[in-house]
Amino acid sequence: MLLPRLITESPKDWETRRKELVKTLLDEEYGALPFREKSLAFGKISEEPSRYMGGSASRTDHLVRAVFDGGEFSFPVRAVIPNGEGLHPFFIFLNFYPEIPNLYYPAEELSDLGFGVLSVYYKDVTCDRAFDSSPDQGAARFFYDGVPEDERCGKLTIWAWAASRALDLALTLPGLDPGRAAVIGHSRLGKTALLAAALDTRFFAAFSNDSGCSGAALHRGKGDKAESIEAITRTFPYWFKKNFASYAGREEELIFDQHWLLGAICPRFVCVGSAAGDLWADPDSELNCCRAASEAWESLGLEGFDAPESVPEAPFRLFGGGIGYYRRPGKHFFRRRDWLDAAAFMLEKSSRKN
Ligand code: GCU
Repeated sequence: MLLPRLITESPKDWETRRKELVKTLLDEEYGALPFREKSLAFGKISEEPSRYMGGSASRTDHLVRAVFDGGEFSFPVRAVIPNGEGLHPFFIFLNFYPEIPNLYYPAEELSDLGFGVLSVYYKDVTCDRAFDSSPDQGAARFFYDGVPEDERCGKLTIWAWAASRALDLALTLPGLDPGRAAVIGHSRLGKTALLAAALDTRFFAAFSNDSGCSGAALHRGKGDKAESIEAITRTFPYWFKKNFASYAGREEELIFDQHWLLGAICPRFVCVGSAAGDLWADPDSELNCCRAASEAWESLGLEGFDAPESVPEAPFRLFGGGIGYYRRPGKHFFRRRDWLDAAAFMLEKSSRKN
C-alpha cells in the first residue's frame, strides 16, 4: 500500500513540516476553529470532603468559562488528583459519561497508580448531533454562528478544543506535573484525543483506544468489515468538515492518511490501543498506521514504532519507541486493562524524554 509521505524530499525543520501536516488534516478532514475565545477563567464549583477515597485523593469540580465576542460558554471539568508529595502525571480524559467513576473510568485504580485525571464529559461541551438551534449545542454555537457551512469545523475539533481548555485549567492546579500531561479517549473520543495532541504541543502524550476510522486507522487498505469514509460521513457527517465526505470511495486521492495524525504528535508520545475483535475500528489498520507514522520519529533520530515482523496473537504490547501500541482480545470497549496498558506506557515514557 502506497501512502503519502510524512517527510518531504526537501529538508525542512520538523516543526514547519508538522504544521503542514496539521493544516492539511484540518483543511481536508476535521476543520479548523475559526477563532479562539477572547479570554478564559476557571472556578472551583465543588469539592468532596477530605475522606474521599479514604483520604488518598482530592475530588473537585471546576468550571471552565470561555468568553467569546457574542457571549460566554462554560463547561465543567471533574478532577481526581492523588494526595501526597510530588507532582503527578495526569490524563485529560474525554469521557462518554459525566459520572466518576464510571463504566469506562476506574477512578480509584488510576489514582492509586499515581495519576491525576481531569474528566471532560463531551456532551457538556457540545451535543453529539448535527448543528441546530437547541441549547445543548453549547460551544458549537460560538464556533459556527456566522461561519459558512462549508467552512465549519467538525465536532471532533470542538471536543479537542475542550481538551486543551481542560489542560489550561490543569496547569493552574496544584499537584499536577505540567510536563506530563496526556490526553486520552475511547472510540470517537480516541479520534479526538489524537487530534487534540496534534493541535496542542503541550500534551506530552496522546492515547486512543479503539479509535478506528479518522482516528488511528488508515483510510487506505482497510479490512472488509472496517468503517470507511463513506460509512462514517453518512452517519456522523457533523464530526468533520463538510468536504471530507467527498472522499467517500476516493480514498486513494487523499493527499494524506491517518499516519499524518500520529506523525503530527512527533516527537512527543502516542499510544494506540486496539481490541482484536473490533473489526469496525480495524486493529491491523491501526497497527499499520503506527508502522507508517514511525518515519517522523526516525527522521529525527528517535525510535518510532517497534514494529513486529508478523502480528502476534493478542494480548500484546509494543512500547519500544515514541509510538506505542497495545492489543487485547475482545470487542469495542474501554476496559480496565486498556487503562492499565495506557498507564504503563505513560509511566514508562515519563521516566525519560524522547
Ligand atoms: C460508531 C462510529 C465509530 C466510532 C464509534 C464510537 O461506531 O462508526 O467511528 O468510533 O461509533 O465512538 O463508539
